[in-house]
Formats: sequence, C-alpha cells, structure tokens
Amino acid sequence: NKISVIGVPMDLGQMRRGVDMGPSAIRYAGMVERLTQLKYDIEDLGDIEIPRPAQPAGVKHDNLRNLNEIAEGTQRLANEVDQIVGKGSFPLVLGGDHSIAMGTLAGLSKHYENLGVIWYDAHGDLNTADSSPSGNIHGMPLAVSLGIGHEKLTSIHGEEPKIKPENIVIIGARSLDEGERVLIKEKGIKVYTMHEVDRMGMTQVIEESVDYLKDRTDGVHLSLDLDGLDPNEAPGVGTPVLGGLSYRESHLAMEMLHQSGMITSAEFVEVNPILDEKNKTASLAVGLMGSLFGESLK
Ligand code: ARG
Ligand code: MN
Ligand code: MN
Ligand code: MN
Repeated sequence: NKISVIGVPMDLGQMRRGVDMGPSAIRYAGMVERLTQLKYDIEDLGDIEIPRPAQPAGVKHDNLRNLNEIAEGTQRLANEVDQIVGKGSFPLVLGGDHSIAMGTLAGLSKHYENLGVIWYDAHGDLNTADSSPSGNIHGMPLAVSLGIGHEKLTSIHGEEPKIKPENIVIIGARSLDEGERVLIKEKGIKVYTMHEVDRMGMTQVIEESVDYLKDRTDGVHLSLDLDGLDPNEAPGVGTPVLGGLSYRESHLAMEMLHQSGMITSAEFVEVNPILDEKNKTASLAVGLMGSLFGESLK
C-alpha cells in the first residue's frame, strides 16, 4: 500500500507558462494529507529536473517545439517511474503538461507485457509533427507511446513501442484534429467522446472500459488531463474546451476505477495555477485522487 509521488515541472510541451507550477499547486491543495488519511504510505520523491530551453520562446525543431529538452526531461521521468514500479510502489505522477506521459508510459512499459491506458482528456494527444496544428509536443504523447513520431521521442527509455493501440481507452474527447481522427480509425483505438458519455452515461462508459481492458491488460495506467473536465470545474488549464466532463461524472469515474482494482499507476497533468481561480483546479485534482484511492462515504 505504498504510493510514490513524483512531480514533473514541465511546461515546454506547450506555449503557456505556469503549468510547471502544477506539482506545487497540487501539493499545496493537500494531496499528502488526503491520501495519508486513506491509510496509504506516501513517499514524496520531489520534482524531476527539467532542462530550460536555449531560447525563451523555445526553438521549433521540425514543428516540434523544445524537442531536445522534452526528450531529456521525460527520459529522467521514465527512469524514476521504472524504479518506483520495480520496488513495488504505485507511481503517482504530477504534471506539468501532458508531454510528460511519454516518460511515464516508457518507464511503466518495462514492467508490463500489455499495459492498458485510460486517457481522460478533451484531446487525443495523437498528433505527429506532420499532423500537429501547433508544434506543441503535449499534443503528441499518445502517438509517441504507440511508436509514432520523431525518433528522439519514440526512443525514450527503449526503442520499442510502449503501448498497443488495442489497450487504450480515451474518455472525454471533444477536440480531435484531422490526423488524430485518421489514426484512431486506422488503429481501431477505443474512444468515448462526449457524445457517447452523454448518451450512455459515465456508469456504462466505465463499466465497458473496465470490461474491455480487464482481459487484455496486465496493468492499467490512468492519464488524467484536467482539461478533460469542463472549464467551469477546471479553469486552470492551458487548452480548455467547452462541454467537458462534470465534477460528478469524474468523481464517479474515479470511484468506479477504484472499485475495479485495476489501476496500477496514475498521472494528473495540465494544472496551471497561473490560469486558475484560487487553486480550484489543483484542489479538484486532489479530490479526484481521493476518489481514485478509495474515499467513500460508506
Ligand atoms: N490538439 C491540439 C494540438 O495538438 C491540442 C493538444 C492539447 N493537449 C493537451 N495535452 N492539453 O496542439
Ligand atoms: Mn487535453
Ligand atoms: Mn492531454
Ligand atoms: Mn494543455
């Protein structure tokens, strides 16, 4: 029953400064106290060191902003996550922008044959340099983890793909670029867009996701981008999209995932305290962690 927390003050995967303060904001929102109450043994390993870019704005390298710095930082994260799993602890990663998921998944992949991933997000993060409208690497980590993208990124912590398309479930999508849609179709990736969430309800979405991943995976990582939630609940994010998942749907999802007993690692990303309202988004993240780790009224 041990959780190892690792902060990743990464803001190089996108254009808005401040998301590097996400780990501090989440800690200030009372994360350790909240999880300690649930009888977990929490170890906070502090923050990974992230290189600073040579030029303030970040050099665009073949439509891959801050490529080298991000590759270096996420490789460090991969090493840490690899070690945490190796010693039998649950890795809980605090972002930082979503580019860090490349490192988390790379570290995890050493320990699982069939790593499942629940990608809770408004976005697919399935872009490549060619399909990306922005050149922002935080829009690419899921593609990179499938082995699709620049060699400097796909080779982080090992050359082989870190996950398989059939082991992914995306929940909450409502902003997908054209290239991402093509990839989703081509690879047969399971996606519950907001349309499906509205029609089926979150209960069925999670039941189906759990059923789907249960037999095919030997571990499941939850990668939760706070912009998956509606901007009314989570204003402190860099790329908000209207019409998102509600506070209640999200807590329900976390509670059901806890009950499934299948989650073996998690990350909470894209909390940007500069854009936030009185640390509301970090507090929301901590509340969701509470539900994920078993808070309940009974
Ligand atoms: N699809 C857009 C892009 O690639 C937005 C990505 C947003 N990603 C995120 N992790 N918030 O630029
Ligand atoms: Mn997103
Ligand atoms: Mn994302
Ligand atoms: Mn973002």
